[in-house]
Amino acid sequence: MKHTEQMMRPDALKNKVIVVTGGGSGLGKSMAKNFLDLGAKVAISSRNLEKLTATATELESETGGQCLAVACDVRNIEEVEAMHKQVCDTLGPVDVLVNNAAGNFIAPTERLSSNAFDTILDIVLKGTKNCTLTFGKHWIKTKQKNTNVLNIVTTYAFTGSGYVVPSACAKAGVLAMTRSLAVEWAKYGMRFNAVAPGPFPTKGAWDRLLPAPIKKKFDPKKRIPVGRVGEHQELANLTAYMVSDFGSYLNGEVITLDGGEWMKGAGQFNNLEQVSKTMWDILELAIRKKK
Ligand code: HXC
Ligand code: NAP
Repeated sequence: MKHTEQMMRPDALKNKVIVVTGGGSGLGKSMAKNFLDLGAKVAISSRNLEKLTATATELESETGGQCLAVACDVRNIEEVEAMHKQVCDTLGPVDVLVNNAAGNFIAPTERLSSNAFDTILDIVLKGTKNCTLTFGKHWIKTKQKNTNVLNIVTTYAFTGSGYVVPSACAKAGVLAMTRSLAVEWAKYGMRFNAVAPGPFPTKGAWDRLLPAPIKKKFDPKKRIPVGRVGEHQELANLTAYMVSDFGSYLNGEVITLDGGEWMKGAGQFNNLEQVSKTMWDILELAIRKKK
């Protein structure tokens, strides 16, 4: 058994209709493929229809499932409502919404224009709000139960982080939305959860967060206790469980999947791993002497 293998039983998502925003690339594409493998009908959406259509065709041929490509800029509520209608008309009532679409880049905050800051807030926080309100209100109106929303956040949604401040603010807002609605809308049969991935290589993230000139110096592997970055299938396995009926009791939770990365940053003495054995011998003697 390997961590890169499919974990769930093959019918785990049979008869589910799942929408993945930002599903044409990166982690969204990997989650969509896994959902299809597990029997769901999946709609992927983003701004670029050409990319989405190519992805949908690829995923359908790989999995034998049904994958619908729908163009939608999550910043625009009318486009989100139209996307929701197109998915319902084509695939049937939606059971699961995965808010995965995001925008991000590293920059010192003082270099950001007001519009640059807004652009990230709009894609991540407003986009998640637009999709959540549209899908959630529909579920309430039609009395559809056993639905859920999965939000893809980051570990700096709880710690904050310099150099990605708009994204940190937006993801923190998404996490607050997750926890708030998990309580308020549970009475309508909805669950809300989040996953906080550590570094998982994708072109979208690596181009904007780990560009070539700093790639070696800031190699994420160096700060991850398990010594490696994440494999897409690991995230796909976790999220499939979370959105499936096996996860029915999971509500209002954020699950971190980062090999211990953020804990390492938080523990004040964790960088003592750089101390050699010989130095530990010297330190122990010095400390014992103080008694
Ligand atoms: C400063 C920048 C900038 C940069 C853009 N801007 N790049 N400012 N430094 N590097 C400014 C622009 O000048 C403009 O402001 C404003 O931001 C909007 O830029 P546009 O290019 O007009 O916006 P748009 O076409 O909507 O593109 C949005 C984008 C782009 C976010 C800038 O990168 C994008 O499309 N991203 C989508 C995919 C993505 O980001 N994936 C990575 C997710 S990774 P002005 O004032 O000039 O108009 C992720 C991981 C988190 O979230 C955790 C990792 C561990
Ligand atoms: P990615 O491939 O760039 O995914 C982002 C997706 O969002 C793209 O498919 C993009 O498609 C879409 N998108 C951007 N703006 C949009 C808009 N206005 N409307 C609709 N769709 C939009 O990067 P990724 O690494 O897979 O990221 C996926 C998610 O994981 C994000 O939420 C990210 O914050 C999170 N995450 C990633 C990592 C990591 O290490 N990779 C770590 C933590 C969290 P278009 O450009 O076609 O619109």
